Amino acid sequence: MATDLHRPVTAPVDDRPAAVRVQGLTRSFDGRRVIDDFELTVRPGEFVALLGRSGCGKSALLKILAGLDREIEGTVLVPRRKATAFQAPRLMPWKKVWRNVLLGLPGRPEREVAEQVLAEVGLENRADAWPKTLSGGEAQRASLARALVREPDLLLLAEPFGALDALTRLKAQRLVGEVWQRRGCAVLLVTHDVEEAVPLADRVLVMEGGVIAHEVQVGLDRPRGLADPEFAALRTELLDLLGVETPTATGRAA
Ligand SMILES: Nc1ncnc2c1ncn2[C@@H]1O[C@H](COP(=O)(O)OP(=O)(O)O)[C@@H](O)[C@H]1O
Ligand SMILES: [Mg+2]
Repeated sequence: MATDLHRPVTAPVDDRPAAVRVQGLTRSFDGRRVIDDFELTVRPGEFVALLGRSGCGKSALLKILAGLDREIEGTVLVPRRKATAFQAPRLMPWKKVWRNVLLGLPGRPEREVAEQVLAEVGLENRADAWPKTLSGGEAQRASLARALVREPDLLLLAEPFGALDALTRLKAQRLVGEVWQRRGCAVLLVTHDVEEAVPLADRVLVMEGGVIAHEVQVGLDRPRGLADPEFAALRTELLDLLGVETPTATGRAA
């Protein structure tokens, strides 16, 4: 068992070190290999979406990358500066938004630090709000702010838009795209939903049987429109790879 979770990566990919390097990663539960000799490299600044059916091991992988699970075999190299935004925003109800953003940061950061990052996600006027008064989209943005305040080189996103209504989801996606382009951090977005994966990713991976079974480069220009025929074709291809039936090339999956 060799876990080097917090050591800086030394092996270069282009001129900078990789943001994520996973080699021979295996994780078993009750003798069953949920992650099985898994390999993954993410370049610095790259946006990678990891897709897979429910139960294929996405969350298990994310926990390992986030450093929350070390019962593994293999090598996992991630940046020291990394942050995770989970699907459920997980805000502490008894702390105002700005205090939630600073929660767990070392030292005694000033309120101003939280305000800056809240402004970056468009929540500057909600700093003093209680979490229960936030809309779903606002809570998700607060959660993103809490990740960004750590100035991550690697941002791990777990199904970040899944619980949002269609319009809020589009806005949140756009925001994540802007933040990513501005900050230049690597992003690994983990989801079961093709609609979450395609709009933003440079590369989409499909996890199956404990490994990456398929890999698709997304060559489309940004911003990407749902109406773009190439976008629709890619979506259909990915749904196919996931084993989801598509009635027509542009129709929604059943
Ligand atoms: N802590 C755990 N103990 C036992 N089994 C687990 C644990 N975590 C995950 N699993 C199992 O590993 C498999 C993958 O789970 P998970 O990573 O949550 O899937 P996904 O996020 O892709 O839906 C599932 O069969 C799940 O039951
Ligand atoms: Mg999951």
